[in-house]
Amino acid sequence: QKRVLSGVQPTGDVHIGNWLGAIRNWVELQENYETFVCVVDLHAITTPHDPKSLYQNSLSTAALYIACGMNPDKCSIFIQSQISAHSELCWILNCLTPLNWMERMIQFKEKSIKQGDNVSIGLLDYPVLMAADILLYDADLVPVGEDQKQHLELARDIASQRVNSKFGTKENPILKVPNPLILKECSKVMSLTDGTKKMSKSDPNENSRITLLDSPDIITKKIKRSKTDSELGLEFGNPLRPEADNLLTIYSIISGLGREKAAEYCAEMGWGKFKPEFTEAMINVLKPIQEKYKELMNDPEELKRILNKGKLTAEEVSKLTLNRVKEALGFYSNL
Ligand code: TYM
Repeated sequence: QKRVLSGVQPTGDVHIGNWLGAIRNWVELQENYETFVCVVDLHAITTPHDPKSLYQNSLSTAALYIACGMNPDKCSIFIQSQISAHSELCWILNCLTPLNWMERMIQFKEKSIKQGDNVSIGLLDYPVLMAADILLYDADLVPVGEDQKQHLELARDIASQRVNSKFGTKENPILKVPNPLILKECSKVMSLTDGTKKMSKSDPNENSRITLLDSPDIITKKIKRSKTDSELGLEFGNPLRPEADNLLTIYSIISGLGREKAAEYCAEMGWGKFKPEFTEAMINVLKPIQEKYKELMNDPEELKRILNKGKLTAEEVSKLTLNRVKEALGFYSNL
């Protein structure tokens, strides 16, 4: 069976961009693929972090995976730092990856500008750790939002150019070269306060995003304050109206209408009528997720059981790959 791997960082509240762009896709894939989803807590410490929040966010991110529809009986859900093979493979890949490949990474450039003198080596290394996450599970597909495209290309290049072609043979490649899976719709959800900027956990303005755990009141307020324009009717694809495109795209999915019907339904609708409908659809679609989330957070033993089960499977699979790589590179083994 083909494999899928993906993850979200426990760096703050999971928002509708993470859900519509990535998690929603995992839920479908788990039906036909052997699916691994991890909470990438090692990635979360590449920028300054608070231990208590990391702990809490790791659990709550895992609970949200399940609340969004990941079924622990069908997939493996685990916490990245519980599997030491991630750090170990990352080190090996570090030594094989040219530094100048890393300095080209767009997300590194963006994040490091913001942090000035405090940029850690970990932040530069972030995409190599991500490559290790993916390659350890021989993933065929990696469902992510568009912002991860460059990181996926790096993982592919490391696997094929730096590991397989140097240490493997054509018949016996050491690592599987993964493919990104980026949805056509909603792979880049934009900010509510600026339709030209990506919705992001790190935006200091909380009104820029709707999180999966926002209460109906908060959702209503955020949508009320979201940026609009002075045109009547919503439409897709008008470069002069990024907010209209963004909200209509989100609406077409959360309302269940789909693109065509949503476009027709909203073609002449003013913002004043659209916003309450959008708000209602958002509250309704998040309600079952929030209920399931509460249930899980009230049953820590069950969550622990699920994460332990995921850990055991992840451990088994990742160990095989790590041993394969170590053997090919000439590491001593007394097995
Ligand atoms: P993170 O935590 O930033 O985001 C998690 C997932 O959500 C997607 N995403 C979005 N999709 C659409 N619109 C948006 N505004 C939006 N914002 C975020 C991201 O593309 C991602 O799929 N590097 C990864 C975490 C990671 C990972 C991995 C992913 C670490 N190891 C291995 C896949 C496989 C990240 O930053 O996720």
